[in-house]
Amino acid sequence: MTARAPLTAGKASVAAPANIAFIKYWGARDLAEALPANASISMTLSACLSHSTVAARPEPGPDEVLLASPGGALAPAPAGFSRRVVGHLDVLRRSTGFAGSFRVATVNSFPASAGLASSASGFAALAVAALESLGLELPAGELSALARASGSASAARSVLGGFVELPAGLEARAGAHVLYPAEHWSLCDVIALIETGEKEVSSLEGHRRAPTSPYFERRLEQLPEKLARVRSALAARDLEALGPLIEEEAIDLHLIAMSSRPGIFYWAPATLVVLAELRALRAAGIGAWGTMDAGPNVHVICEPRDAAVVADRLASLPGVRSILSDGVGSGPAPAADLF
Ligand code: DP6
Repeated sequence: MTARAPLTAGKASVAAPANIAFIKYWGARDLAEALPANASISMTLSACLSHSTVAARPEPGPDEVLLASPGGALAPAPAGFSRRVVGHLDVLRRSTGFAGSFRVATVNSFPASAGLASSASGFAALAVAALESLGLELPAGELSALARASGSASAARSVLGGFVELPAGLEARAGAHVLYPAEHWSLCDVIALIETGEKEVSSLEGHRRAPTSPYFERRLEQLPEKLARVRSALAARDLEALGPLIEEEAIDLHLIAMSSRPGIFYWAPATLVVLAELRALRAAGIGAWGTMDAGPNVHVICEPRDAAVVADRLASLPGVRSILSDGVGSGPAPAADLF
């Protein structure tokens, strides 16, 4: 993009949601540019949020990156996190022509780095708030492309609401697009939290290793048909069609991860306990299907009428620490200032 001068140097606060992928991005065409090897489709969530305040300062100088505690106190962010944020701020400076510096504070409403797409919501919130702090409002595609340029391609989906598709390869440069808005289908996501610590192998490393799996090429061959089936299940709001597709897809991603060299094992024993419980629930007539990102936690997709029963059943399982109840959401929204 080119700068829409004059840029202001103001402050903006945004809450951006995580998303759960129904068809996963796993493996890159170009990892440095975060161009995925395959298209992905996700549902934007509404309760799992990253909340960011960004203040733009006209003076050049080091950026200040802070973490806010839920109580409101601000503290310097850990070095690795700051580096990724400053890297994305550099991308935003290059693409807007802004030569000043930023002060950024962030807090998540959910555990970071636990396969709950905290980088997707975090970089979506950062991109939207930083652009707003400069007085810029971009078309959805450009905004999504800038969020993708954080290195977390899933962030390109989190700047949009509802059911969202990010194309593969060079087409991802144009950003993601909305397949259906949130109002299309009020699906629930009952998240069984099994582990909330930092994951051992980052998604970035997972994308790097994916092509070493002997099954990776086969997965790519099968994806166009799978994507088409997910799109038509969404169009028809048909959970009996969508559910089996997303559960198989999650297992496919983990099959690739486990068979990469060296293998990556994101599941915990309780992941399998939850999947077994979902089979039992389905046998009892309750439509609930699981999907896991790069972590052990299971996102259970179901209709609102079943969400309470599903949450109760999952909460009672050994190894499930807690339940987060979420559902489809409409994307980033203005939020209170953190400083
Ligand atoms: C398994 O490179 O976007 O969640 O930076 O960890 O969010 P993060 O990962 P990114 O890869 C996403 C991997 C995935 C599948 C998906 O969301 O499509």
